[in-house]
Amino acid sequence: MAKDFEYNYPHPHLLGIEGLNRLDVEQLLALADDYVEFSRQDRKHVDVLKGMTLLNLFFENSTRTQSSFELAGKRLGADVVNMAMQNSSLKKGETLIDTAMTLNAMRPDLLVIRHNASGAVKLLSRKVDCAVINAGDGQHEHPTQALLDALTIRRRLGDLSALRIAICGDIAHSRVARSNVFLLTLLGAEVRLVGPSPLIPKGADEWGAEVYTDMKEGIADCDVVMMLRLQLERMEGAFLPSTREYFHFYGLDREKLKLAKPGALVMHPGPMNRGVEIESAVADNLDRSLITTQVENGVAVRMAVLHTLSRNLLDRRAKQNEVQR
Ligand code: NCD
Repeated sequence: MAKDFEYNYPHPHLLGIEGLNRLDVEQLLALADDYVEFSRQDRKHVDVLKGMTLLNLFFENSTRTQSSFELAGKRLGADVVNMAMQNSSLKKGETLIDTAMTLNAMRPDLLVIRHNASGAVKLLSRKVDCAVINAGDGQHEHPTQALLDALTIRRRLGDLSALRIAICGDIAHSRVARSNVFLLTLLGAEVRLVGPSPLIPKGADEWGAEVYTDMKEGIADCDVVMMLRLQLERMEGAFLPSTREYFHFYGLDREKLKLAKPGALVMHPGPMNRGVEIESAVADNLDRSLITTQVENGVAVRMAVLHTLSRNLLDRRAKQNEVQR
């Protein structure tokens, strides 16, 4: 594995896909491609982050994203600490900024943050002097999820500019949908957003994707159908009549999948609500479902992001030291 790769990545943090350009993304995906192969070896350890400290701060629950960042950090040789922020001093009334200052004093090099408020990760990034990675902020962005989704599609189907991709379900509450629309359109794909109108956010038609409220029309002739979880925890009041009815109109089952292109591939970021947004027979069909490949590629993408941002951080610190001398 190349410890010293050619790179030209100007961003100190990864707060969202919005603001990245094609070259930034291509570099991250190329490195992630290498790390997929690297992670398939028996011994998957390299010391590019040796001696560096990675703090995982998850203010919201997570299974795969947190463990994936933890594995990524460990495979690169970092010291990784998972802070249980659900039980943090925030509950005792400490402000988010105080928490940031406290953690910053522990001199971490990389901070991975998930928070239920959109914009909270950006706010924290301004108060610390290490590299910050957004692992999902409210309904705003989840950039590493979009990167792993793009990597998964590209490794399987090649150039995205030839593809039509439908993102279906609870668009309104989904940071995954927002980050994916930015990224997949940046890479040239035709993107459709499909869901019932209460779950389509205002202004979605300006994101660069076509909006459909009829699932059958929306997935017609698509190469990839990406399903989203119904984010019931983010819904206040009644958005939907019932989950049964939702499945009838918007759940991906074998019948509806027949309307997409023959052999169309199915994705889901997890965790899945089986029988609500996706039928088990579709999710578990290994010829069509990329769901476990997404998880595999997630570790590789996070390795690429941690590696790249650590290089940027070391360069910045070296420049600061020069100025001080
Ligand atoms: C997503 C998230 O947290 O935004 N999940 C994930 O990162 N694997 C999507 C979701 O929670 O439905």
